[in-house]
Amino acid sequence: MSGFLEGLTDYGDAEFSAFLRGVFLASAGFDEQDLDRPVVGIADARSDYVTCHREFPALIEAVKRGVLEAGGLPVVFPTMALPEIFTAPTAMYLRNLMAMQVEESIRTQPMDGVVLVGGCDKTVPAQVMGALSAGRPFVQVVAGPMIPGSWRGQRVGACTDCRAIWSRHRAGELDRAEVAEAAAALAPTGGTCMVMGTASTMACLVEAMGVAVSGSATPAAPTGARLASGARAGRVIVEAICAGRRPAGIVTSDALHNAAVVCAAIGGSTNAVVHLIAIARRAGIEFTLDDVAAAMRGVPVLVDCKPIGRGYLTDFDADGGVPALLAELADLLRLEAPTIDGRPLGARLRHRDRPLGTVRGLTDPVHPDGGVSVLRGSLAPEGAVIKTGAASPALLTHTGPAVVFDSLADLAARIDDPALPVTPSSVLVLRNAGPVAAGMPEAGALPIPRRLAAAGVRDMVRVSDARMSGTAFGTVVLHVSPEATRGGPLALVRDGDPITLDAGRGLLDLGVGDAELARRRAELAASETRKGLRGNDSRGNDSRGNDSRWARLHRRYVGQAHQGADLDVGADSDGSPARAGGR
Ligand code: FES
Repeated sequence: MSGFLEGLTDYGDAEFSAFLRGVFLASAGFDEQDLDRPVVGIADARSDYVTCHREFPALIEAVKRGVLEAGGLPVVFPTMALPEIFTAPTAMYLRNLMAMQVEESIRTQPMDGVVLVGGCDKTVPAQVMGALSAGRPFVQVVAGPMIPGSWRGQRVGACTDCRAIWSRHRAGELDRAEVAEAAAALAPTGGTCMVMGTASTMACLVEAMGVAVSGSATPAAPTGARLASGARAGRVIVEAICAGRRPAGIVTSDALHNAAVVCAAIGGSTNAVVHLIAIARRAGIEFTLDDVAAAMRGVPVLVDCKPIGRGYLTDFDADGGVPALLAELADLLRLEAPTIDGRPLGARLRHRDRPLGTVRGLTDPVHPDGGVSVLRGSLAPEGAVIKTGAASPALLTHTGPAVVFDSLADLAARIDDPALPVTPSSVLVLRNAGPVAAGMPEAGALPIPRRLAAAGVRDMVRVSDARMSGTAFGTVVLHVSPEATRGGPLALVRDGDPITLDAGRGLLDLGVGDAELARRRAELAASETRKGLRGNDSRGNDSRGNDSRWARLHRRYVGQAHQGADLDVGADSDGSPARAGGR
């Protein structure tokens, strides 16, 4: 522990640098008694654009109280925030930038450990990735879910119900006024989306991974239980600093395995697969798409929350939250995995006399298969994923003719065209929406064409190199890798080509012969040469015309989905892969 005298600013005179620190700390009212304490940075991802984080002021006060109670000195610093709903083209485009910013904030400012306060969707993976690379002890605190609202006598909440209501509007069942009325009830409090979307999934995963305190994933944002979890995190980080508990000892392959098992059992978001792989790589652990799928294989969904089930995160919390789930999953978990509070994961199990409503037992699951299935085949040589529990069982084995959209703009322009040659058995294909081409937006759950939606069609097979919101549902194949812009066969599909999905066999095939594909590939290469850069316009801009410095860096260095879509900036000078840092 070295507190405020760690990492002195370079003025060429270390004693002067230390003296200056004293001057400015005195200006903030700190005295010698304060400066003897471990310094705990509190990374605050608050922004008025992130309405999910609007309860942070009270939560951060609770974290500070916990730090002080344990003898530490809390120092809050701002970081980027990623407003899922207010970021174009997608918050995912900024996840790696935020991870870099969090890492550099931790590395360059004096702190012995850090509490990461985030919640909305990509903020938690960004914070964990950055903190892992920085290598200091850290605890993750999440915003907590919203409390559900009520509309026409039914509980509703963001954002599975947003999608269901919007689908009914597209099908002509609800008019604009009714949709506007529903909108007022869908996100009634501060907090993250209260279904098992990406934010809730990542909250449960960081708890299962042991980097958040026990029971902290599910208390609702506006509650005292949420504040209490913040205070506990404040106390735990001081203990972790004093005990020298570094992230490398917590985020192990066992911890990642446990997180993947829990992801399946909660019916978690497919986005978690990308984030888990990225987190593993930041920790210097080989944990691949196949490792994620292997950990999830055969794990049923035990948590009855939307989009797979019926309830909300508040129900999960009332029925025991993650500790109750861990008890049901005990036989599938690596219980010796250490956690940030110094106890193994096995000490966090909360046994009950019998499974309660929202948290089922292994013999009475919500759905027999919670996992994300990995698909491979001629259309996805490096893999693709499908959340089978959110799919229509009848479509999990399906062959149909492709209807291809070349980009998000093409999709928007033509999906509702009455002349679109589409039937319920068509396979909707979206390309050029992967990490390099478009920042990998959550556009993979392509809307059902209005004509079919009005006729009652609620699901179709959809295939893309994009992602999908964790709150969405449907027979949606995502993360096709490599993406079309990076030479993936998705670029070669044409309208009418037969596409076969066989989730049970892990297959995604394009029914076009090798010779024809070779001919199309040569034709595509020739046309790209004529147009300039692949996937971008002739100035190297993306489809939105963004030629900012970050946009260029992102396009140049972002990896593919099966690699976690992190920045790949190459090896360290000694030839080893870039990995978790530390002092
Ligand atoms: Fe913030 Fe859903 S929009 S968690």
